[in-house]
Amino acid sequence: TAIIFLAPDGTRYEIDAPDGSSVMQAAIRNDVPGIDADCGGACACATCHVYVDEAQIGQLAPMEAMEEDMLDFALDVRANSRLSCQIRVRPELRGLTLTVPPRQA
Ligand code: FES
Repeated sequence: TAIIFLAPDGTRYEIDAPDGSSVMQAAIRNDVPGIDADCGGACACATCHVYVDEAQIGQLAPMEAMEEDMLDFALDVRANSRLSCQIRVRPELRGLTLTVPPRQA
């Protein structure tokens, strides 16, 4: 499923992410800068933080309490912030556009 990452400098990464994996795993495999995922996807580091395109945020499953708590540790959190290790790739998310927060890259 095609997922798009936008780096703060405007570079666009279009990734073919395997369904069932996390969006973070796909970003790591494709060397998207700023997605460090220090904890390896355990929802324990907040270095996989992304901004979700406002028009698409409703397509995502709501945050679990663990993600909400960990997001408090991310930099420059906004209403459309999510942790990309907690977003599961599925075909309906085709074209999902995620921006890497500037201070993270
Ligand atoms: Fe650590 Fe997502 S990879 S919180």
